[in-house]
Amino acid sequence: MFPTHRPRRLRTHPQLRRMVRETVLNTSDLIYPLFAVPGEGIAKEVKSMPGVFQLSVDKIVEEAKEVYGLGIPAVILFGIPEDKDIEATGAWHDCGIVQKAATAIKEAVPDLVVIADTCLCEYTSHGHCGYLQVGDLSGRVLNDPTLELLKKTAVSQAQAGADIIAPSGMMDGFVQAIRLGLDEAGFQDTPIMSYAAKYASSYYGPFRDAADSSPQFGDRRTYQMDFGNSREAIKEIELDIAEGADMLMVKPALSYMDVIWQVKQACNLPVAAYNVSGEYSMIKAAALNGWIDEERVVLETLTSFKRAGADLILTYHAKDAARWLK
Ligand code: PBG
Ligand code: ZN
Repeated sequence: MFPTHRPRRLRTHPQLRRMVRETVLNTSDLIYPLFAVPGEGIAKEVKSMPGVFQLSVDKIVEEAKEVYGLGIPAVILFGIPEDKDIEATGAWHDCGIVQKAATAIKEAVPDLVVIADTCLCEYTSHGHCGYLQVGDLSGRVLNDPTLELLKKTAVSQAQAGADIIAPSGMMDGFVQAIRLGLDEAGFQDTPIMSYAAKYASSYYGPFRDAADSSPQFGDRRTYQMDFGNSREAIKEIELDIAEGADMLMVKPALSYMDVIWQVKQACNLPVAAYNVSGEYSMIKAAALNGWIDEERVVLETLTSFKRAGADLILTYHAKDAARWLK
């Protein structure tokens, strides 16, 4: 008996394969992360992330133009401040580094969507994502005092020109606090992209070099999620939806494809996947060694995030991917 059903019939020709492809990656799916540092003329490569740079505001504007020219619709901004303190002043100050970068980018490339990452870890002296009692070395982040600082941060980012606020600290009630803050300040139309299901992951290592945001003591496991859990991710997204989130994020992406899928099934909001620093570095390292074909591996990986349910992908590969998709 020969088989009657022959799925291979639809694989015989490249154009036919193209016609029946179910998931297609577009440049418009991509969001490119940028790291802003004080100073001028600075473009400092992050050692553990070849091809990724810390950029001063003048350089970040050039980069934003290039990103927009490649057809990428949005960037997400992280900042490395001059000084860090217990109040995370650099996060919410009008002259903060992300505020300056957002204003400069919007002035130079008004059509590029600027997303501001809203967290405190880059700005606190201890490197945690929230407020800690002075002198408390146990690393116990206080939830509600943190909400006040996040609210101030989000409002100042919106005032500086950020189009979307992306809170990433995993504090309870952070979406609601930020929503209220934005509304009170007149930013009813500024969407919130919540890092709703963010795991305590070892894949963030290279980012912490890039953003100089490693906790000086303890770890982030009292606020970020345990990697064994996925039911809890659904609880997190339900809360964020109820609090007014406009978009939801799952982070990291590669080891959490099942979570992306479940979140997609459980909501009707756009879902973003964060292809994090460690995922980027692994591919880069293998590619630089000549062990894998970078272009093919990256496009396969990004397409699979979309197949798993991601509508948007935050990725350090965005510029390369945009060139390859042209
Ligand atoms: C912190 C934050 C992290 C990332 C973005 N914002 C990680 C962390 O230190 O917990 C990770 C991004 C990446 O690894 O690419 N709020
Ligand atoms: Zn943080």
